Amino acid sequence: MFSTPFVLFFSLLLSLPILFFLAPRILPPRQSSIPISINDELDDLSLFNRAATQSYSNPNNPSIFAHLSSGKHPKLKIAFLFLTNSDLHFAPLWEQFFHGSPTNLYNIYVHADPKENVTRPTSGVFKGRFIAAKRTYRASPTLISATRRLLATALLSDPANAFFALISQHCIPLHSFVYVYKSLLVSPTFDSTSTELDPDLAHLGVRVRYKSFIEILSNAPRLWKRYKARGQFAMMPEVPLEQFRVGSQFFTLTRRDALLVIKDRTLWRKFKLPCYREDECYPEEHYFPTLLSMVDPAGCTKYTLTQVNWTGTHNGHPYTYHPPEVSPELIYRLRQSNYSESYLFARKFSPDCLRPLKQIADSVIFRD
Ligand SMILES: *[C@@H]1O[C@H](CO)[C@@H](O)[C@H](O)[C@H]1NC(C)=O
Ligand SMILES: *[C@@H]1O[C@H](CO)[C@@H](O)[C@H](O)[C@H]1NC(C)=O
Ligand SMILES: *[C@@H]1O[C@H](CO)[C@@H](O)[C@H](O)[C@H]1NC(C)=O
Repeated sequence: MFSTPFVLFFSLLLSLPILFFLAPRILPPRQSSIPISINDELDDLSLFNRAATQSYSNPNNPSIFAHLSSGKHPKLKIAFLFLTNSDLHFAPLWEQFFHGSPTNLYNIYVHADPKENVTRPTSGVFKGRFIAAKRTYRASPTLISATRRLLATALLSDPANAFFALISQHCIPLHSFVYVYKSLLVSPTFDSTSTELDPDLAHLGVRVRYKSFIEILSNAPRLWKRYKARGQFAMMPEVPLEQFRVGSQFFTLTRRDALLVIKDRTLWRKFKLPCYREDECYPEEHYFPTLLSMVDPAGCTKYTLTQVNWTGTHNGHPYTYHPPEVSPELIYRLRQSNYSESYLFARKFSPDCLRPLKQIADSVIFRD
C-alpha cells in the first residue's frame, strides 16, 4: 500500500528527466540576444513604410540612359552608410577620400549606438550626418535594424542615391573616390559577372544593369548550426534550409535591392527571433544574403567589394591588421580580387593604423 503523497513524489521525480529532454522544445528560447521593443519596432516600421512609398523606385530604368545619351552627366550618387558603436577611427582618412570630390556625387549617413560616447564631428564631411539611431548589440538582430534604418534614411533623403555602401569604423578605402565612383557607376568591365552589354548601349560603354555587391554563400561550414540556432523548425516555412545563405555583413546594394530590403516583413519576422546559442547566431550575416538570394538573385553579383581576412579567425572576428603590417604592399595585396577588377574597401584595421595609413594615403591608397 502506497500513500498518495508517496506516489505523487515518485511521479514527480520520474517526470523530471522527461521535462529535461522536452524543455528545450516546448519552452521559449533562453534570451541570448536582447529582444527589440515594440516601440522601436513601430518606429522602424513607420520609417520603412515612408521610405518604401515616398522614395523613387530604381535607377535601372531607362531614364538614366537618356541622361547619358544626351551627353549629360547622370549625377547618380553613392550613399556611404557608416555603422558604428565607437568613434570613426579612420574619419581623417575618409575626409581625405572625399576631399575635392564633387558633393553632388555622394552622401554620407552615420548610425552610431546612442549609448556609446561617440564623438560627433563639428566640421568636415561627417558633420550633421548622424541619423536617428538605436542601440546595437553584437550578434543580434539589432544590427539588421540599424542597417535597414541607414538604408531607409538614405532612400528617403535623396532620390539620386543609386548605390548604398555599408562601412564600419574598422573599414578603410583601398582606392580614391573617383576610382570607386567610376567602378560602381561607369565602368563596363569592373564587375566580371555583369560584362554583358546591350548592343544599343554598347557605344556608351556602360553596364546595362547595375547589380548589388553582396556575398551570398550556400555551402559554408556550420550553416546548419546557424540555421537551427532559433530552433530546428523555427525558420519554416518561410526559409527552408536549402534557401538559407551566409555572407559578409558589409556590402554595396543597388537602390532596387535597398528598397526590397526595407520592404521585407516576412523574413524579418524570422530573423528577429532570439537564438538559443549566441555563438551560432550572427543574424546580420544571414538575413541580407538569404533575403536577396530569394527576391533578386539575378540582381546580385554574390561577392562583396569589402576585403576581409578570415584566416586565423577567432570568436567570430576576422583578422585585424596592426601598424607594423601597414605598407604599400599590403594595400596592393588587399586590392586583389578574383571577381572584380579590385576590392574597394578593406577591414579590419586597429585604430592606431591611422598614422601609417595616412602616410601612404596620397602616394598609394588614393593614387590610381
Ligand atoms: C565622452 O567623450 C568625451 C571626449 O572624448 C570625454 O570628454 C567625456 O568625458 C566622455 N564622457 C563619458 C561619459 O565617457
Ligand atoms: C591574413 O591573416 C593572416 C594571419 O591570420 C596573415 O598571415 C596573412 O598575411 C593575412 N593575409 C593578407 C592578405 O594580409
Ligand atoms: C583566387 O582563386 C584562387 C583559386 O581558387 C585562389 O588560390 C586565390 O587565393 C584567389 N585569389 C584571391 C585574391 O582571392
